[in-house]
Amino acid sequence: MVYFNFILRLFFRRALFRRLLFTIGFIICVYLLIFYNTTSSNQYYEPSVSNIIDNNAIHNYNSTDSCHFKPSTDEFILKYKPVTLIGLKPEATRFEPTIERIRNLLELIRSKEDTYQPLLQNFDVFNMINPDISLKVYTDESNIDEIKTLYNRYIKLMPDNKTIHVDHAMIDYLKQISSYLSDGLRNNRANRVNIKENVQLPVECLRKPVFVLACDEGFFNILQGAIHSLDEYWSGYRIVFYDMGLSSGQVKLLREKCKQCTIIKFPFSSIKIFASHIDILKTYAFKPFVIQDALRRYGTIIYGDASARFNSNSFNPVLIDNYIRGFAARELPDHYLSCFTRTGTFDWFNQSYSQFDEIYMSEANFLVVTDTFLTRLMMKAWLTCALESKCLIAYESQSKCRGSSTTYHRYDQSAMVIILTHFFFPGTKSTWGDRHLNDPAPYDMFTSIQMNLGDIKRGYQDPNYLSEKKIA
Ligand SMILES: *[C@@H]1O[C@H](CO)[C@@H](O)[C@H](O)[C@H]1NC(C)=O
Ligand SMILES: *[C@@H]1O[C@H](CO)[C@@H](O)[C@H](O)[C@H]1NC(C)=O
Ligand SMILES: *[C@@H]1O[C@H](CO)[C@@H](O)[C@H](O)[C@H]1NC(C)=O
Repeated sequence: MVYFNFILRLFFRRALFRRLLFTIGFIICVYLLIFYNTTSSNQYYEPSVSNIIDNNAIHNYNSTDSCHFKPSTDEFILKYKPVTLIGLKPEATRFEPTIERIRNLLELIRSKEDTYQPLLQNFDVFNMINPDISLKVYTDESNIDEIKTLYNRYIKLMPDNKTIHVDHAMIDYLKQISSYLSDGLRNNRANRVNIKENVQLPVECLRKPVFVLACDEGFFNILQGAIHSLDEYWSGYRIVFYDMGLSSGQVKLLREKCKQCTIIKFPFSSIKIFASHIDILKTYAFKPFVIQDALRRYGTIIYGDASARFNSNSFNPVLIDNYIRGFAARELPDHYLSCFTRTGTFDWFNQSYSQFDEIYMSEANFLVVTDTFLTRLMMKAWLTCALESKCLIAYESQSKCRGSSTTYHRYDQSAMVIILTHFFFPGTKSTWGDRHLNDPAPYDMFTSIQMNLGDIKRGYQDPNYLSEKKIA
């Protein structure tokens, strides 16, 4: 099953890749054009911008470690003229962002806040009663002014502390974001005839991502393979490892041989008071906590399961789009959310499973997360769901899709996708040969770069990597 998923995805990507080959050729032409224009007039693009966008190699990261670039994504995105027009006519069969859905989600989270905020504030999660004070600066790169501006513009808690008013303009804002991201897909951003139009977010420098890994002792040999691939493609980058229960020998080995690793012990006991299932690792309740904790410490993170194998360092397009999107995952084409999610989880969100029949499942084993306004909302929702077994596990229900029941459930991933669909429009439906498929959703990394950045290789061990590793 696992390999089947993987192969299917590769296949899909190859097909798409072939289709996009001519576009890539076209881009090279556009690039040459820009290059000549830049050298002749120095006017078209700031050199730093075209460097970052046109060459994805690692050396483009600013050599000084910090990047204090705080883009006004708000101003940029509202002015952007999309090619891919998303959400033109409301779709009856698939869920997309609406004022009602967002309000429903935010009111639900607000109703749980009095119970969970004492815990969540330890992870710097804001409270909705007092967002101006509780929306904290995560790192000195936090774009906190924009986060607060957007929050106050779109979201207002009524004096009853229950009802939330969501401004109608929020849908236009979300539509623009989804359209902008989807334009990356067929290179509709780069293909603009009039390159003078500001069609790319002008990015001065990129925040350096921090890699986030987590596992217990049983997965340590698999984890070593992930570290091996990071050493190969991202040597010298900081890795923060969440210790979910390593043996003392394993911790010692990691400390000695992984100089770029920071080890953080996962705070099971403080969370267990609120969620007794937190230490049942197969429910993945820990994952939103690992991501939130890393996010508040580092601001821009790339999370991988122990079985993640990085095979590229070409993450720049994803990181640039993440200034706007905040959250990037990978979809599993042909795997529908309703077939892999117990109905109880949908019930918790007050959503009907039948409207997720055509939304693809996304994987949470490989994520790129950046601190933005949308990320703050989504992380709060994801954490709240993870704390309630009724939401995350939904023990007593089954998955129902397309007229049949299944026993599949994907815990953290199921919740993550439901939350994402509140803020991002679904990918456009399209036809590939005789098949009908969705384009990748705006949160799929594939909209930013059409290549495979890493694989999930379940069961692949690299047991001697650290013990045999030579350190300078
Ligand atoms: C790094 O970024 C800073 C401003 O953020 C800039 O002044 C500096 O020139 C950049 N360095 C390189 C090597 O691009
Ligand atoms: C709403 O919350 C604020 C801050 O905790 C409190 O001062 C106020 O009395 C609450 N209002 C209601 C109606 O409970
Ligand atoms: C659940 O959603 C329905 C619309 O589908 C809405 O009428 C109802 O108010 C929602 N319930 C809650 C508790 O928000």
